Amino acid sequence: MGRSLESEANSLTVRDNRTGKTFNIPIVDNTISATAFKAIAAPRKEGEREENETEKGLRVADKGFLNTAVIQSQITYIDGDAGVLRYRGYPIEQLALHSSHLETSYLLIYGHLPSREQYKVFESEIMHHSIVHADAEGFFRSFRYDAHPMAILTSAFSYLGSYYSEANPSLQGQTLFTKGDHNSLANMDKQIFRLIGKATTLAAMAYRIRQGRDFVTPPTGLSYTGSFLYQMDHLGQENYRPSPVLERALDVLFLLHADHELNASCTTVLQTGSSLVDPYSAIAAGCASLYGPLHGGANEAVIRMLISIGSPENVPAFLESVKRREKVLSGFGHRVYKTSDPRSFIIRKTADEVFKVTGKDELLDTAMALHDAAIKDEFFVKRKLAPNVDFWSGLIYRAMGFPLDFFPVLFAVPRVVGWLAHWRQMMLQSGGVKIWRPRQVYVGAGKRDFVPIEERKPVEGPKQAPTPVMHSGITKRTAMAEFKGKTKL
Ligand code: CMC
Repeated sequence: MGRSLESEANSLTVRDNRTGKTFNIPIVDNTISATAFKAIAAPRKEGEREENETEKGLRVADKGFLNTAVIQSQITYIDGDAGVLRYRGYPIEQLALHSSHLETSYLLIYGHLPSREQYKVFESEIMHHSIVHADAEGFFRSFRYDAHPMAILTSAFSYLGSYYSEANPSLQGQTLFTKGDHNSLANMDKQIFRLIGKATTLAAMAYRIRQGRDFVTPPTGLSYTGSFLYQMDHLGQENYRPSPVLERALDVLFLLHADHELNASCTTVLQTGSSLVDPYSAIAAGCASLYGPLHGGANEAVIRMLISIGSPENVPAFLESVKRREKVLSGFGHRVYKTSDPRSFIIRKTADEVFKVTGKDELLDTAMALHDAAIKDEFFVKRKLAPNVDFWSGLIYRAMGFPLDFFPVLFAVPRVVGWLAHWRQMMLQSGGVKIWRPRQVYVGAGKRDFVPIEERKPVEGPKQAPTPVMHSGITKRTAMAEFKGKTKL
């Protein structure tokens, strides 16, 4: 086929029925460019809202990014229909069996499995960048005793960045991380070592303040997850070593959670990073996004759901309430997977290993009954809703004795790796970084003139004016007291 015939075959022909014009849009890597649609313009029809900007070309609407590719990536591939997950081409099952979290981190960030020497250097850099400034103690102690550990961790990443002015493009210049020369790459890698190395330290500190414990200095000579367990649990015992079964299980869980391409939190990191903000702020933003119950907070939500169900005989009633849309089956469903999440099988196996040493979790029977009923139920089958990574992981964390609200932290710590891999890739992509600035479809009021306050008619009603709120600081006794300027509560 000649070149032009070939490029015509690899294109999309669009006819705009408003104008009768035809447009040829190239298809590259089975993708069409949304900006190509900007050329498809038409005169505004009489009576049409000017805010539609019809004469400026078509927009592409995609609420929730259901079918919009925002970056070219070489990191992770998911085939959601076949239940396939590969990091840099390697199937997740092979990595879970043969690799470790830190080796897989190297793979995700640099694109290849390291040689023994390369791995030794990488591991040593990560483990030597685990200590935080002594002042951090004051920061952690400033949280209330019952602060959610994800609130602490999210703030801690941002706090951490305040120590490293050399990593801040606002202070050092916008090309700090995009130059790609030796100094820029070394600076970027140093922040990567720090963020991965200190993620466990920050998480362990968030854990320890909740327990009323002093902090411990990160130990030497332990693995990444061994060091994490040590930092959470060591209370001064001599020659303390975490259980190798729990250390390995946590390592497998970390590896499985290390990346998952453009999920909400990774997209948040890239969106935030696209303004060229420092990586600590970008990671803090990712952490905040992960915290939500539709994403990394689902592992906590699953256990709360199982506790509320109580026992296997209550499962049918619970499923009925899900079908009536009163409740959500946490740990089921996924934007990309339309079959079982491949990680859920590995997690299920890991759970059995853990239960052998910890004893079976009392919620397991309820979880099994729920799982077995849901995968056969027409409602879930029809919508292709299958168990995701969070359905089983919470049961392992519970069996390991972690508090419920710490579960999302156990997701966030390993995911720092994926966030950094994608952030680094974006900083180094050819053509530089483009700020992520999506469009909207404006459907609000047309142009109107300001009305002085005396002439306004009050607009009332739900969502149209502030809803009256209870003042939580006011006790019943204060409400009954008399004082100057008292307003009706
Ligand atoms: N329980 C009940 N109904 C559900 C569920 C669920 N868990 N998930 C999806 N649906 C229904 C949804 O109501 C919709 O029904 P209909 O078409 O009749 O309106 C249909 O299935 C399609 O769902 P969707 O909300 O359009 O799918 P989405 O891709 O926008 O959302 C999801 C994906 C993961 C947010 C959603 O499945 C969900 O809320 N799951 C529960 C929370 C959860 O387990 N999250 C962890 C995700 S995996 C790990 C991670 O990313 O952190």
